[in-house]
Parts: sequence; C-alpha cells; structure tokens
Amino acid sequence: MPARLRCNAPYPLPAAMTAAAEDRTLLCPRASSAEAAWVDATQVIGAGSLGDVVRHFTGQSPLAAATPGEVTLDTSPRDLRDVKGQERAKRALEIAAAGRHHLIMIGTPGSGKSMLAARLPGILPPLTPTEALETSMIQSLCGLLDEGGISRTRPFREPHHTASMAAIVGGGKGAKPGEISLAHNGVLFMDEFPEFPRTVLETLRQPIETGEVMVARANAHVKYPCRFMLVAAANPCKCGYLTDPARACSRVPGCGEDYLGRISGPLMDRFDLRIEVPPVAFTDLDLPPSGDSSTAVAARVDAARQIQADRFKDTPDTRQNADVEGKLLEEIAAPDPGGKDLLLRAAERYGLSARAFHRILRVARTIADLAGEDAIRRPHVAEALSFRISAKVAG
Ligand SMILES: Nc1ncnc2c1ncn2[C@@H]1O[C@H](COP(=O)(O)OP(=O)(O)OP(=O)(O)O)[C@@H](O)[C@H]1O
Ligand SMILES: [Mg+2]
Repeated sequence: MPARLRCNAPYPLPAAMTAAAEDRTLLCPRASSAEAAWVDATQVIGAGSLGDVVRHFTGQSPLAAATPGEVTLDTSPRDLRDVKGQERAKRALEIAAAGRHHLIMIGTPGSGKSMLAARLPGILPPLTPTEALETSMIQSLCGLLDEGGISRTRPFREPHHTASMAAIVGGGKGAKPGEISLAHNGVLFMDEFPEFPRTVLETLRQPIETGEVMVARANAHVKYPCRFMLVAAANPCKCGYLTDPARACSRVPGCGEDYLGRISGPLMDRFDLRIEVPPVAFTDLDLPPSGDSSTAVAARVDAARQIQADRFKDTPDTRQNADVEGKLLEEIAAPDPGGKDLLLRAAERYGLSARAFHRILRVARTIADLAGEDAIRRPHVAEALSFRISAKVAG
C-alpha cells in the first residue's frame, strides 16, 4: 500500500511565496497544491503519495505542474434598497466604502444598523489581484482557503464582543492572525462596540493608524497586515433608547454617558464618519423600496476608487484616501479658499484635534472624488464636517 500524502501542508501560500522569492520549485501534497499554485503555477508540483515523489525524481513518471484553485466572487443578495429610509446612513456607507474611512453608527435597537453594515460587501469593489493574494495569505495561515480557491470578495469579519483578545488581534498558540488581519483589505464590523472589553478596544488604536499588528510569539514577534475599514455600531445607552423621542430613556442623562464613555476619546477620534441612526417610522417601513440599489452605489464607489488607484499609482503604501499622510495629504487634499475658511473656523469652534483636522480633509477628498471633481470645494468640506461633528451622542 503506497504512503499517501493526505495532510495539507500547513501554510501552502506563504511557502509558495518563499519558494518563488528564492526561485525554487515547491513540492507539496496534492491537496495543498491548488492553493500554492496561485503564486506561480509553473513552480508548484503536487504529489499524491511518497511513491509519486520517488517516481518524479527518478524520472519514471514526472509530476505535472499544479493548477490554481477557482477564483470566486460572491454577488451579495443583500441590497441597500431593503433598508427603508436611513438616507444619511446610506450616504455615510457610500463615502466610507469609497475612501476606506472608519464609521461608527449610533442608534436605538432595531433601527437598522446591523442591516446597513451587512450591505457593505455589496457596494465594495472586488479585491484587486494583489489584494486577493494578500488576503488569501492570511486566510491560508488560518486554514480558511476552501479547496485552494481564492476569493475576490472583500472580507467582512464580524467578531463577537465575547471573543478573546487573541481571536481579535492575533496571537495564542502558533501566533495566528486575528480578526483584524482576516479583515485586511475588507471590513471589520464590531457590533455592540462598547460591549467589547476596554483592553481590546484600546489595542485597536495602533493597528488602525499603521495598518499592521505585531503579534508576540514565545521568542519572536510576527507582523501581520491589517488594513481594514472599521465599522462600529452601538446603542446610545445601555437600555438603548436615549435618542428615541418616543421612548425616553429612564436613566437620562447617566445611562448614555456611562455607556458610550467606554469608548475612549482617542479611539472615537479615529472614526472619520459618525452618524446617528434614528428609529424608522412604521409608515416608512410600509413604503416600497426607494433610493439607489447596491449595484448603483457600487458603481459610484468603484469610480471613486479608480480615481484613487490612479492618484496613488506611484505610492504603493497608499491605496485609498484614508491612507494619505503628511506632504501628500497637503498636495491632494488642499481645499479651495471657501473650504479652507470653513474648516479653520470649525476647527477653532469645536476644538478639533490635528488628527480630526486631517481626517476631515481625507473624507472631503473622497466626497469630491465621488462627485468626480478635482477641487475640494466648500460643500465637500461642509459634508465631511457634518459627519464628524453633528452626532449629538458621538462626542
Ligand atoms: N430601515 C429599515 N428598513 C427595513 N427594515 C428594518 C429597518 N430597520 C430595521 N429593520 C428591521 O428590523 C430588524 C432589525 O434591524 P437591525 O438588526 O439592523 O437593527 P440594529 O439597529 O442593528 O439593532 P440593535 O441595536 O438591537 O443591534 C431587521 O432585520 C429588519 O427586519
Ligand atoms: Mg445590531
């Protein structure tokens, strides 16, 4: 009976990347070869048994090059038109998706926050080939690639607030990537945001800024990418009804302060877009679907992302407006005199931090991109500001 190579190689994709970098051929179990072949199919060979390996090397029966697994793309059946009303929230989703901006939605129970977030994959463009390989590498490390196939659908990760620190940021046995890395190039949706342990929330601050996370191993550190779009949802208070005019919260004002106070100032400062999601009126629920379909919004998001791909073609570390820093930000996001005047006055009046100031400029850039305009004008700055400072409960 021949010795079959049944087990999957632990990390086929990273192993194939290393082999390719050293210009070597990777010989691996056949079950892993479809995944490894994504790097360079001509340099990956899959063997079904040790006998196959012997026959290959003795020239009796050379093994053929592996074939890459399937490329899949989910066409999300969830449409934005299913969500009645909530036009402002839908606009915020569109802007967030276009520029990879972080978004927090605060609203009463059952107002549609989770429903809105679940529609994000349907308005995001497919992963580019480079992004698909990066995201698949992380999935490969976690053993999540299905039969060697690669998905072009952007990840949408939704960790529960009871998940451990290692599950969310990475670590534990084998220093595996966590949810924030599995969300690389996609969406990290943190529902019931204030319910996550404070230590977990604070740990997110650095990865949000750098797009990387350092995971500790016994005697080393491993760096994983985690360039995700953070979407958080929260009730305004523990009982949930602080902002509902029809159902006054019984513990006003303490209930809301205690609850949202769990989100520290520096963490809240990292959300570019903050919106209140009000309860939907029953009369609105009865109306036929209205507003743009996910397909129409996805086309606008895609056009805005194309503009960014063009803008950042010479700066590989900067892919979307949310990534722009320093001098480049000054170059690409300088508003016209009207916009500048408005922003300076708002910064003074609301005591905006330097980070907030720059985040507003990045959002204004995205809004102008969605409008297909080169110049950032006053209305673009005004809309970006409105998402930053209008939410009564968002600090
Ligand atoms: N705007 C809306 N249009 C259509 N249906 C809605 C809307 N908002 C809520 N619903 C209905 O209410 C259900 C609950 O909505 P959802 O879970 O998104 O609320 P939520 O804001 O996330 O609530 P919670 O704060 O309790 O998590 C939905 O599955 C849907 O049936
Ligand atoms: Mg919800």
